[in-house]
Amino acid sequence: MSIKDRTESVWQDINLPHFDSIKNNQKTETCIIGGGITGISVAYEMARRGHKVVLVEAFRIGSGQTGRTTAHLTCQLEEQFKELKKIHDEKTVSIFYDAHRSAIDILEENVKNLKIDCDFKRLDGYLFQGENFDRNKMLDELESARSCGAQLEWVDRTPLLNETLPALRFENQAQFNPLKYIRGLVVAFTELGGIIFEGTHIKDIRQEDRENWLLLTDSDHHIQAKNLIVATNTPVNNRFHIHTRQFAYRTYAMAFKVSEPIKESCLLWDTEDPYHYIRFVDDTLVVGGEDHRTGQGSSADPFLKLEEWVRKKFNFVNEVVYRWSGQVFEPMDQIGFIGKNPGLEKNVYISTGESGIGMTSAAIASKIIPDLIEETENPWSRVFDPSRPPVNGIKDFVMENLNVARQYTDWVTPSDVKSLDEIPLDTGSLIREGVSKTCFYHDADHFEKKSAVCTHLGGIVHWNDIEKTWDCPCHGSRFNTKGKVIEGPALSDLMEK
Ligand SMILES: Cc1cc2nc3c(=O)[nH]c(=O)nc-3n(C[C@H](O)[C@H](O)[C@H](O)COP(=O)(O)OP(=O)(O)OC[C@H]3O[C@@H](n4cnc5c(N)ncnc54)[C@H](O)[C@@H]3O)c2cc1C
Ligand code: FES
Repeated sequence: MSIKDRTESVWQDINLPHFDSIKNNQKTETCIIGGGITGISVAYEMARRGHKVVLVEAFRIGSGQTGRTTAHLTCQLEEQFKELKKIHDEKTVSIFYDAHRSAIDILEENVKNLKIDCDFKRLDGYLFQGENFDRNKMLDELESARSCGAQLEWVDRTPLLNETLPALRFENQAQFNPLKYIRGLVVAFTELGGIIFEGTHIKDIRQEDRENWLLLTDSDHHIQAKNLIVATNTPVNNRFHIHTRQFAYRTYAMAFKVSEPIKESCLLWDTEDPYHYIRFVDDTLVVGGEDHRTGQGSSADPFLKLEEWVRKKFNFVNEVVYRWSGQVFEPMDQIGFIGKNPGLEKNVYISTGESGIGMTSAAIASKIIPDLIEETENPWSRVFDPSRPPVNGIKDFVMENLNVARQYTDWVTPSDVKSLDEIPLDTGSLIREGVSKTCFYHDADHFEKKSAVCTHLGGIVHWNDIEKTWDCPCHGSRFNTKGKVIEGPALSDLMEK
C-alpha cells in the first residue's frame, strides 16, 4: 500500500529501513499501532525496559505527520502562558512546561546514547511580537511564563527579522531531523528484539477476553496482545470520547533557499493566531502557518499567503524549494492526551492531541505509557490524563463541537457541480444523488466514484485540492482519491456507490 500525497516535505528523501507486511498471526505482550515518532519512541522505551513489542504501521514508518513536521523542539507550549493560566492553575501549567522541557533532554539523551546522527542541535527560541500584540501584551506574557517557572528573557530585537520587534527568548531549545531521529530509534528497537510490520492497516480492534486484545489487519491476519498502545496521531480505537475533546487542523509549511549563510540559527514563532513558525534546515528557511479546521479551508491559497508573509519578514529568502501540508490535533484545554484510554477497558493507552508540539509529546509518552503499564509513579501522568473532564477548556469544547454539529448540514446542501463535465482533471467534487452525496474524482481516463459519507461518524467529506484527498470536516479522517482511508479516526474506506 502506498500513500499518494502530492506535496513533499523537506525531509522526505531520507532513507528509512523497510519492513515486510504481516504474513501470519502474531501473539505479543504489547502491540503499538502507528509508526510515527510517538509509536516508535514508546516502542523503543518499552523494548529497552525488556518488554516484548510488535509495532504495526499502515504505510511506511514516518509517512504520517512525523514526515511532515518542522521539528522545533520547544518548551514554549502551543498556547501562550497567559492563555493557559486562564484554563489551568499555575501548578498544572508548571508541570506541563516541565514535562516539555524535560522531553528535550530525553530526546538529547537518546541521540547521545544511541549515537543517532540526526542533526540535533541546541539553540535559542524566540516568541516575537505579531500584529495582534503590543509591548504590554508581550510583557504580560513574560510575567505569566515566569510565574509558571519558565526560563526566558526579554529582547528588544528579534534576530533575523526585517523589522525591529521585541521577543521573549527561551534558551536551550533544540531542533533535529525527525526522520533521521526515528531511524536511529527503529534500529535500536529492532536490535532489542522489537518487531515492525509496515503496509499493515488495522481495520478492527476487538476485546478477545478480559486480558487480551485482538487486532485485525486488512490482510485478515490478527495480532493478539495484552497491552494495546494507539499512536495513530488521532486514536482509531476511540469512537467518540477523545474526538469531542480535540479538533483537526490543517497546517502548511514551505522551505525557501536563503541567499546568505545564517550565522546564528534559532527557532522563531510569533504571537498571531494562527501563528507562524520558522527554523532553518541546511541552507533553507522553513516556515509554517495558515492553519484552518480540516475540510474547512477558504478558497485563498495558503501557500501564497505564507510566501507573502515570509517575504515581508525576511529579506534573505530566494526561491521556494518545498511546500507541503499536514494535520495537527488541537486539544480543548491545550494539553495533549497521554495515558490510559478513557473508558472501562483494561490495558489500552493513547497519545494524541499533540498539536504543534508532537516531538516533545512523543518523548513524554515514551515515559508515561511504560510507567503506567509497569504501575510506576510518573510525575506528569495526572496532567496529561485522557480521562480528565472538559471543565477547563469548556468554551473551546462547546464552540468547536458546535462547529462539528454544523458540518452535518452538508447532508442537505446542493451538489458542488451540476454535471461531471464541470470537474477538471485531477480534481474532485461532490454530487447529490438521492438523499446522500457522492464523491467524484476525475482521474486520467475515468471518474472514481465513492460515497461521500465518512465511515467514522457520517460526516460528509470535502475535496482537498492541495493534497488531492477527501477530508472529513468533523474529526479529520482523510481518504485518498480511491476512497482508501489514509488518516483516522475512520478505520475503513469510503463505501462503494
Ligand atoms: C506542518 C507541521 C509542522 C509541525 N511542526 C511541529 C514542530 O515544529 N514541533 C513539534 O513538536 N511538532 C510539530 N508538528 C506536530 C508533529 O509533527 C506531530 O504531532 C507528530 O509528528 C505526530 O506523531 P505521531 O507519531 O503521533 O503521528 P504520525 O506521525 O502521524 O504517525 C501515526 C502513524 O499511524 C499510522 N496509522 C494510522 N492509522 C492506522 C491504522 N489503522 N493501522 C496502522 N497504522 C495506522 C499512520 O499511517 C501514521 O504513520 C507539526 C506537524 C505538522 C503537520
Ligand atoms: S472523522 Fe468523524 S465523522 Fe468523519
